[in-house]
Amino acid sequence: MTDGASSDSVIPSPRGRTTPSPRYAVRPPAVSDAPVLGRIHVQIWREAYAGLMPERHLAGLDALARGERWRQNLSAPEPATTTLVGTCDGEPVGFVVVGPGRDDQRPVETELRVLNVLAAQHGTGLATQLLTTALGERAAYLWVLAGNARAVAFYRKHGFELDGGTKLHEPTGTTELRMVRQGARQTS
Ligand SMILES: CC(C)(COP(=O)(O)OP(=O)(O)OC[C@H]1O[C@@H](n2cnc3c(N)ncnc32)[C@H](O)[C@@H]1OP(=O)(O)O)[C@@H](O)C(=O)NCCC(=O)NCCS
Repeated sequence: MTDGASSDSVIPSPRGRTTPSPRYAVRPPAVSDAPVLGRIHVQIWREAYAGLMPERHLAGLDALARGERWRQNLSAPEPATTTLVGTCDGEPVGFVVVGPGRDDQRPVETELRVLNVLAAQHGTGLATQLLTTALGERAAYLWVLAGNARAVAFYRKHGFELDGGTKLHEPTGTTELRMVRQGARQTS
């Protein structure tokens, strides 16, 4: 994990201006965050992917096992990856992981690997804060589950477009769609 600067979040006002919100913050994770990250990871998947992937898969997700994977990843971070936690009133409610692309064929080098926020915090601006703190304006690609219209709309707001790439999410047999933000926004 590279260092990620903590920063206060801003939330969009109804008229589209931004208003600082002391409730939200973005910070690097500690290994001790692993259990709560495992718990919210499973909760976010169940909230977001009901109807998009098999119910049996979602029901079988295990927060303790997911927390153990977080513990391993945070204890030995993969080089050149950035992981950040988004908090509301100090409690983790989301996270982002950015790193080198994991696909042999990749349209740009950097992959936005994970961006997950609890449903209760959607629309607050925290997801934008996580994305911009971890990735800035750099070129990147990502995979989004087919039918995840909210995520596609969110990424379009941030300059990503579907490029026609697809792959199978093997554990569930569902289709993932690739979105890419090209180098016009690249700053490094
Ligand atoms: C994807 C995610 C990070 C986006 O964060 P967010 O706070 O929900 O995003 P925002 O509210 O800023 O933007 C979502 C946009 O989608 C729009 N939207 C909501 N539901 C929609 C739908 N069914 N179809 C199309 N657009 C939709 C919203 O109106 C909003 O656009 P607007 O700001 O122009 O009004 C967050 O929803 C999330 O974590 N979801 C669960 C996990 C997930 O799917 N992660 C992405 C994996 S690739």
